[in-house]
Amino acid sequence: MIEQFLPANWQLLAHGERAYAHSHTVANAAQKIASHIAELDANKAYEYGLMHDIGKFYLSKSEIYKHPRIGYELLRNSYPDIATICLTHPFPDFSNYEHILRYSHEDENEARKVFELLGNIEKNIYIELIQFCDKISRMNDYIRWEDKLQWYLETYNLDPDEITNQYSRHLKRIKQKLDTLTNMNVYTLMGI
Ligand SMILES: [Fe+2]
Repeated sequence: MIEQFLPANWQLLAHGERAYAHSHTVANAAQKIASHIAELDANKAYEYGLMHDIGKFYLSKSEIYKHPRIGYELLRNSYPDIATICLTHPFPDFSNYEHILRYSHEDENEARKVFELLGNIEKNIYIELIQFCDKISRMNDYIRWEDKLQWYLETYNLDPDEITNQYSRHLKRIKQKLDTLTNMNVYTLMGI
């Protein structure tokens, strides 16, 4: 379904192909994990994974950090459930303004808008599933989120701080939840 929402010139974007491939990688993970959880619809999970980064295709690289909200605004009237996935996917803790601000490249105007919108959203298991699948997905393959975080910190020569630690606790909690719901280790399921 992603094709009908892509703008005509998306392939001209520097990050276009990468985002397109990553969207499919997230979709496949979400479908696979959801297929082991009775209460979830695996096709819906696939669609949510596929669409979670749709906002990226409407932004230049310098504004890409706005893609959760842009995706949300694009779909909020036609597909409110997908819009919610777009808005929430980078934010395991809706009330952590400091994390939202950091994610928004210290753009306070953007962070405030996102924070306000998140305040009206009720968490559900699909939201957490896509947050997790996004974190374990690279362009075409999968990685444990702990390793991805480690790679990020090393690449940018950063030390984990309170925001990073809080974020890690939330992801750990989501992983445990998915392990329980699937009755297996989702890393094993994903071959990582
Ligand atoms: Fe994203």
